Amino acid sequence: MSTDMAAAAAQAVRVCAAAELVDGGAGVRCAARLDGGDVVVFFVRYDGRAYGYLNRCAHVPMELDWAEGQFFESSGLYLMCATHGAIYAPDTGKCVGGPCRGGRLRPVQVEERDTPEGRAVFWLPDDELTPATP
Ligand code: FES
Repeated sequence: MSTDMAAAAAQAVRVCAAAELVDGGAGVRCAARLDGGDVVVFFVRYDGRAYGYLNRCAHVPMELDWAEGQFFESSGLYLMCATHGAIYAPDTGKCVGGPCRGGRLRPVQVEERDTPEGRAVFWLPDDELTPATP
């Protein structure tokens, strides 16, 4: 990896205000690129911490949310795929039930930082799964 790529990969992307991600509540989607294709990554809060994953089920490569931004099942304890109901632990991305048990979601690095505009959630992209350039 060139130094330039490392620098580009380290560029943090502001996802949303920290308060927008509510524990067990709606997630925030961001357009991304992976292997030259358009994909979506999403961010949720669970047990006080923000987590981010590629929006792609480990069973069939489909998006998870049954309605845009709805990733948690009704208890707010698991992320659920709308297609065949696989459930994932929100903190590890591991599938804990359903057709892809043992599989896992592809994580992205997340950080919360204080900014002059208030506390915010940032995505720290790697050089493989990158933000979509507008
Ligand atoms: S596509 Fe997600 S459970 Fe089948």
